Amino acid sequence: MEFKPDFIDRLNKAKSLLFFTGAGISAESGIATFRGKDGLWSKLKPEELASFSAFMKNPDMVWEWYQYRREIVEKAKPNKGHLAIAEFEKFYDVNVVTQNVDDLHARAGSTNIDELHGSIVRNFCVDCKTFYNHQEFKFDKKVPRCEKCNGMIRPDVVWFGENLRGNAFPNGEQKAKECDICFIVGTSAIVYPAAYIPITAKQYGAYLVEINIEPTEISYQVDYSILGKSGEILPEIFELAANLKTKKQPNIF
Ligand code: OAD
Repeated sequence: MEFKPDFIDRLNKAKSLLFFTGAGISAESGIATFRGKDGLWSKLKPEELASFSAFMKNPDMVWEWYQYRREIVEKAKPNKGHLAIAEFEKFYDVNVVTQNVDDLHARAGSTNIDELHGSIVRNFCVDCKTFYNHQEFKFDKKVPRCEKCNGMIRPDVVWFGENLRGNAFPNGEQKAKECDICFIVGTSAIVYPAAYIPITAKQYGAYLVEINIEPTEISYQVDYSILGKSGEILPEIFELAANLKTKKQPNIF
């Protein structure tokens, strides 16, 4: 495809790239998004499955739903979009700030990842906060118990009404302030505070590029909106970047 000249210029000069990603980047790996006609929240009620009160009311049902999603994630493979993002590390300082709870960016080889909404492959005890890998409970159909205090084990994902945990958000904000280009990939960009990340990047002078199959809430604020699948567009941008960064300097003799 033909890219906008000012984007090509920015990509050429840029040193630091930030990829702010959402469920859409994993759609081509077979993982359902949340919104839209086939999205998870079109069939299920988030407050009945993705909140602490739902977990306390019916822990086994919530656990089973996450076990089902873990199976899907485990079988899924990173797609060309995830792989392209990891490849950009050959030429740039690359940070990924993701809202996704799958581990596909890491499996694709990205090395600097902040998971704003946690990770489905980790669990922790609601009482003593001991962490457990999901492999330990792979075959548990009911909520397992902590071996230290017998508390219930829950997935390490951020549920509705919960604060973001740890340093993921401040880290992401810092990276937003420092990046030259912020790519907003496969997200409806309506869930806050996550959606402040690209806004912060813009406030600090970054060039914003959106890659999505349809316009979103943030489209009117970006410098460049590319409509298409991330698994197709990102490899093309990587190829462009690789050409720019490896092009031979003119011979002065
Ligand atoms: P959404 O389901 O809200 O949005 C997915 C976006 O991906 C939509 O804008 C789609 O148009 C786009 N999309 C779908 N397929 C695509 C493809 N192949 N290439 C590019 N774009 C594509 O998912 P998120 O924005 O990630 O929160 O949702 C944000 C948060 O809401 C999630 O992290 C989750 C959810 O409730 C928590 O679980 C806390």
